[in-house]
Amino acid sequence: MKITFLFFLILSFLFLVVALAGNFNQDFDITWGDGRAKILENGQLMTLSLDKASGSGFRSKNQYLFGKIDLKIKLVPGNSAGTVTTYYLSSIGSSHDEIDFEFLGNLSGDPYILHTNVFTQGKGDREQQFYLWFDPTKDFHTYSILWNPQSIIFSVDGTPIRQFKNMESSGIPYPKSQPMWIYSSLWNADDWATRGGLVKTDWTKAPFIASYTNFNAQACVWSSTSTASSCNSTTQNSWLSENLDITGQSRIKWVQNNYMIYNYCNDIKRFPQGFPRECSLN
Ligand SMILES: *[C@@H]1O[C@H](CO)[C@@H](O)[C@H](O)[C@H]1NC(C)=O
Ligand SMILES: *[C@@H]1O[C@H](CO)[C@@H](O)[C@H](O)[C@H]1NC(C)=O
Repeated sequence: MKITFLFFLILSFLFLVVALAGNFNQDFDITWGDGRAKILENGQLMTLSLDKASGSGFRSKNQYLFGKIDLKIKLVPGNSAGTVTTYYLSSIGSSHDEIDFEFLGNLSGDPYILHTNVFTQGKGDREQQFYLWFDPTKDFHTYSILWNPQSIIFSVDGTPIRQFKNMESSGIPYPKSQPMWIYSSLWNADDWATRGGLVKTDWTKAPFIASYTNFNAQACVWSSTSTASSCNSTTQNSWLSENLDITGQSRIKWVQNNYMIYNYCNDIKRFPQGFPRECSLN
């Protein structure tokens, strides 16, 4: 505990904490898609588009080491079968860390799947999947990643759906030293996305479009020129120690009981030699 506190004290002095009410022009670069990704309305709206020739994507200009990141997304409406919309944090390299939201499209009226994963030092295989309790194509909804030294919490409209705790004391690596970019993309994955690949993309419905707004980041911006790797604001960083309170814990249970459709920690067939160790800890 004392060491953690010290760590924060040091963090607090060395790094830039930003509270960003975002502007897509300032915060993101369009990285691929040859004109299919667009920043509109003076940076308040971003759209990604997918057609038979290509998808598209963007990436944050900054790299972050810890943060509380909110993004509102309106997913591809109508027949979105075969499409995948991603929103994730990732570092680079073969032992990279990654925190994933992926939205797997479906036929009109059939439910999207929200797919989540956490990679630590290059190892993922920690999938959990959910249905949503609303139609994610009708309106914008807020998808959030809280990443601090204690845990990673995925939330939807403020409701936590998944927590990955720091279990380093039990020998399980935790993302804490590799800065990550924020990425998003829209692409075709009809070999696996919808009903395991049974339903293919209907290209007569292209272009498929997903929309983004209200990017908000309270986060530590990584600076490659600085040798230090920490945050310098002591006032606005309560998210750095935020955890699930009693209400959060009961809501996460509600989601997991009612909307979780896959959990690697329950997939006996996949782990005949025994579940990954974090399954009994997390
Ligand atoms: C953090 O430090 C940077 C440069 O050292 C400074 O520009 C910035 O205003 C500081 N931010 C806060 C929130 O104190
Ligand atoms: C699509 O709809 C089918 C039928 O309701 C469902 O089994 C499946 O989980 C849905 N989502 C995806 C991405 O396949």
